[in-house]
Amino acid sequence: MILSGKAKIAGVIGWPVSHSRSPRLHGYWLANYGIDGAYIPLAVAPDRFPTAVAGLAAAGLRGVNITLPHKAAALSACDMVDDNARRIGAVNTIVFGNDGALRGSNTDAFGFLENIRRNAAWRAGGIAVVLGAGGAARAVCVALADAGMIDIRVINRTGARAARLAADLGAPLTVRDWETRHDALASAALLVNTTSLGMTGQPPLDLDLAALPMDAVVNDIVYAPMETDLLARARARGNPAVDGLGMLLHQARPGFEAWFGVAPKVTDELRDFVMAEP
Ligand SMILES: NC(=O)c1ccc[n+]([C@@H]2O[C@H](COP(=O)([O-])OP(=O)(O)OC[C@H]3O[C@@H](n4cnc5c(N)ncnc54)[C@H](OP(=O)(O)O)[C@@H]3O)[C@@H](O)[C@H]2O)c1
Repeated sequence: MILSGKAKIAGVIGWPVSHSRSPRLHGYWLANYGIDGAYIPLAVAPDRFPTAVAGLAAAGLRGVNITLPHKAAALSACDMVDDNARRIGAVNTIVFGNDGALRGSNTDAFGFLENIRRNAAWRAGGIAVVLGAGGAARAVCVALADAGMIDIRVINRTGARAARLAADLGAPLTVRDWETRHDALASAALLVNTTSLGMTGQPPLDLDLAALPMDAVVNDIVYAPMETDLLARARARGNPAVDGLGMLLHQARPGFEAWFGVAPKVTDELRDFVMAEP
């Protein structure tokens, strides 16, 4: 680690933040590229968020990542936000400008698409099924709509949340009932699980894959465990399957480049390093 008086500093703000893999991820890149800098975890309670962000900018940090529960609050803390952040309703990356301006963006949609594109022979344009309608689903739907999917079937346990997401983002999102999720897989080119089902400590996703075309790509954005029950069942029947870790790694690239001036690479060694610690 190189840390001089001219070091560039960035970090991640969360509450709690101890579970975040971002310090490990950015720390790997900083060491790998020999950068004079540091990336630190910042535990900030919700009521202190605006003060903390302003203080970190005043202290000369390059910027921050934002994780739960601050992603929506970060939207109003910024002076400017990009189109994706506005549509998703959340900011996950802030760049503190030399002019004092706080520029917010959301890189989750980018991270999601990069992960799919690099790990599956997938071409946008068909039908996608998205399970879930939480914060992550918003980013996934924005990415898929911009990529040119012709129908994005949003299916969530709480139907009203899916309806709100579809109303906010508009066409090509359509809503299906949770009970119809098995049949809704027919004709799909892509299936994405954005629910927390399948995560360590959560029940597996109850989904019959029988109607899913054999060439449909299956992506689970849950990455703990990396091989979820959904991915294992998809692989077993021959579908191309993509795990969720790549989304986490790729969403970090734009922030790192903006703060430290190097476009970082996602490699197998990085994947192993980030997941090596519980
Ligand atoms: N790979 C990545 O980079 C990445 C990025 C972000 C998030 N994630 C992962 O994505 C998952 C969702 O994150 P989020 O931020 O979107 O969370 P969230 O806003 O809390 O949404 C959770 C979603 O899971 C659904 N759900 C929870 N329990 C359920 C159950 N028992 N049955 C059916 N549906 C259930 C919720 O449905 P209701 O609306 O009905 O409650 C909702 O759609 C998490 O596992 C998170 O770790 C991964």
